[in-house]
Amino acid sequence: MTEQTRTAKLSFGDTEIELPMHSPSVGPDVIDITKLYAQGNVFTYDPGFTSTAACDSTITFIDGAKGELLHRGYPIDQLASKSHFLEVCFLLLYGYLPTAAEIEDFEYRVTRHTMVHEQMINFFKGFRRDAHPMAIMVGTVGALSAFYHDSTDISDPWQREVASIRMIAKMPTIAAMAYKYTIGQPFVYPRNDLDYASNFLHMCFSVPAEEYVPNPILSRAMDRIFTLHADHEQNASTSTVRLAGSSGANPFACIAAGIACLWGPAHGGANQACLEMLKEIGTVDRIPEFIARAKDKDDPFRLMGFGHRVYKNFDPRAKVMKQSADEVLDLMGIENNPTLQVAKELERQALEDPYFTEKKLFPNVDFYSGIILEAMGFPTAMFTPIFALSRTVGWISQWKEMVTDPGQKIGRPRQLYLGETQRNYVDVEDR
Ligand code: CMC
Repeated sequence: MTEQTRTAKLSFGDTEIELPMHSPSVGPDVIDITKLYAQGNVFTYDPGFTSTAACDSTITFIDGAKGELLHRGYPIDQLASKSHFLEVCFLLLYGYLPTAAEIEDFEYRVTRHTMVHEQMINFFKGFRRDAHPMAIMVGTVGALSAFYHDSTDISDPWQREVASIRMIAKMPTIAAMAYKYTIGQPFVYPRNDLDYASNFLHMCFSVPAEEYVPNPILSRAMDRIFTLHADHEQNASTSTVRLAGSSGANPFACIAAGIACLWGPAHGGANQACLEMLKEIGTVDRIPEFIARAKDKDDPFRLMGFGHRVYKNFDPRAKVMKQSADEVLDLMGIENNPTLQVAKELERQALEDPYFTEKKLFPNVDFYSGIILEAMGFPTAMFTPIFALSRTVGWISQWKEMVTDPGQKIGRPRQLYLGETQRNYVDVEDR
């Protein structure tokens, strides 16, 4: 916690309370209300945490007005163009850019943990073949805690470190196994001679019947997608991981909770929903009809891949993703892709419409990611598992930060109770 510089005064009725304020390294000041209930016998009310900081953190910073995303101070566009996913993992976990020797050691450690216990296969086989891969991931990642007992004691720094590396290393294997299972193909073991992204493509797309050579252009695009999703400060799934972890739950169980939260269409599920929407629109002449629906208060339809709780300007990840979509389709020789045409025209028309500009609704990371993933050969159901495997490092970094915070408490929100006051039980014959 930073040094207290100012105080805020809160008065209601005859009560006046002085509350400490803290200044962040960048961003708005915060009013510390932790003693408010003790001093004033009142709670604050902020469903959806629109104005509430639930923790302090040194990992990621977003300036929503500027459309800026920094990991440990480094802008996301620089990391996406100059760095690579495992280096960003190191940065998020340890707080600084590694030396050549440190990244070599880190890559070695991650690579040596890519296999999952052979018994895990039985968990996959228990699912129906038509299960959504996210359903499989929630179950199998939670099950990891039953296999890796030597890394579930969260009070031991060594066990926390091993759990972190295991999670980053095994998540691509689990996502690829979920995919292979749902399409009825044999599981493909990881290959430690491949880089992280190429290995994931290998586990998804190779078959025992023929050799698979990962395309370096697609590997780079895959790595960039992982990088762009690596962390995003206190979003819903990260807050879920922190809340689950605040009770002392083991890291595998906490990450499974994060995966469950990510699945929703307002969060990580938006990439699948967005591509399905673009396909439903189909042709550019139908765009006005869908824009009208998105603006209609009586229609629950929203433009998927549009809008963000924090960004009130372009999502910087969407800019990189749009450029990547052009590059990947171009390099794969896919000309005039109708979905990309619909996406670009939809973006253009929406950004000329006062409804979207006045509400500051811009394309987010999910708007273009599905187009790239589809061009690579992934079905829509795999989009959110890919988001989950990329975000795992963010979840685990935030979880580690929380667990090692000496002031950490169990997360326990208050409520504004609007139900019945105390009343006496009535026997069934008297009701
Ligand atoms: N299409 C049409 N209207 C929208 C949209 C949209 N995509 N997003 C927000 N609005 C309107 C909304 O109806 C509301 O209007 P009004 O003030 O008249 O009631 C206003 O904009 C503010 O919306 P909100 O729901 O109060 O804002 P929020 O901060 O609670 O929601 C959001 C943020 C991302 C859930 C929302 O913008 C949304 O549902 N977007 C579509 C889903 C999506 O793309 N999600 C991915 C987010 S980025 C990746 C991730 O974090 O996982």
